[in-house]
Amino acid sequence: MLSVMNLSFVPLLLAVGALTLDSSKAEYDYFQYHPMEEISSWMAQMAKQYPDVVTIVDYGKSYENRTISLMRIGLKTDAKKKAIWMDCGIHAREWIAPAFCQYFVRQILQTYKTDAKMEAMVTNMDFYVTPVLNIDGYIFSWTNSSTRLWRKNRSPGPSGDCYGTDLNRNFDANWGTIGVSSDCNSNIYPGRGPISEPEAQAVTYFVGSRKEDFLCFLTIHSYGQLLLIPYGNPDFTASNYDELMKVGEEAAEAIWKVHGKKYRVGTSPAVLYPNSGSSRDWARMQDIPLTFTFELRDNGTYGFQLPQDEIQPTCEEAYSGALHIITYAHDKTFNGAAATAAALWTMLLVLGVNLM
Ligand code: ARG
Ligand code: ZN
Repeated sequence: MLSVMNLSFVPLLLAVGALTLDSSKAEYDYFQYHPMEEISSWMAQMAKQYPDVVTIVDYGKSYENRTISLMRIGLKTDAKKKAIWMDCGIHAREWIAPAFCQYFVRQILQTYKTDAKMEAMVTNMDFYVTPVLNIDGYIFSWTNSSTRLWRKNRSPGPSGDCYGTDLNRNFDANWGTIGVSSDCNSNIYPGRGPISEPEAQAVTYFVGSRKEDFLCFLTIHSYGQLLLIPYGNPDFTASNYDELMKVGEEAAEAIWKVHGKKYRVGTSPAVLYPNSGSSRDWARMQDIPLTFTFELRDNGTYGFQLPQDEIQPTCEEAYSGALHIITYAHDKTFNGAAATAAALWTMLLVLGVNLM
């Protein structure tokens, strides 16, 4: 009798459950890995939900002819704005990177109305975020377990029996000089020439056409827990090396404070390996002052296959590090200028009063 009564509640419970599920259908799970179609529809959904802050910009085509899109996030104003660049997923298998870009966008959208600092930043700057740059490679890495560790794009090599160029060796920055292999089967094949690949062309032309706007260029990878600064070729040193190291060390400190993870800071040859043709080096050569590669968790235990239960802490700490760099860039340009103007006015006032 009792059990029959209990069972009679089951349909009701199921109905309530379905209702709850349905009313929360907009809840996106930021702490799961998502295939490309889900990321694309999430992008469209964000643009729909936040029409005055989020704009989708299509800025290129992948080798397999998919559209490369970014999200521009910022408040519309008549003033000339500065800009922040972030791309994720230039290397296909580094799934934590696209997850981070999505979390980063969510954090901006969740805070800009209540957090005065974030409000100032979305007023003075636009954030240009590409959740998945190497779309073909990302999709390929999702097809089956044998392709899970694919890194490159999907364009065929010169002989047609090998596939993929390492997009982070394909940029026009000391292209082909170090940390590359001319074997098109290699994971560090730099392509036929500088920006031979459509995905590298898309970034080059988009950023290049407005390079004086960008204060900051952040490109997100995994793994190794590193913040890499230019240059990948040890023969070159960034003119603002000291500033990059200082800001990087402060960002690493901010990361450490969140979950106690140590990130090391330095040039690629100093802390990882030498390379050439990276987007970070190219961006610095375009005179974008603050260019960093983030290598997110972990240190090699799971490597590129970071378990899903580490997505949230990884995003939380990396957000803190990225925010430090972005805030530094913002304040140097805006608060710095405002402070200088205020100081000038004070001086003029004092001078004026004294002259009277
Ligand atoms: N994302 C890195 C790259 O761009 C791979 C780093 C992984 N290797 C390592 N030893 N931590 O090449
Ligand atoms: Zn990478």
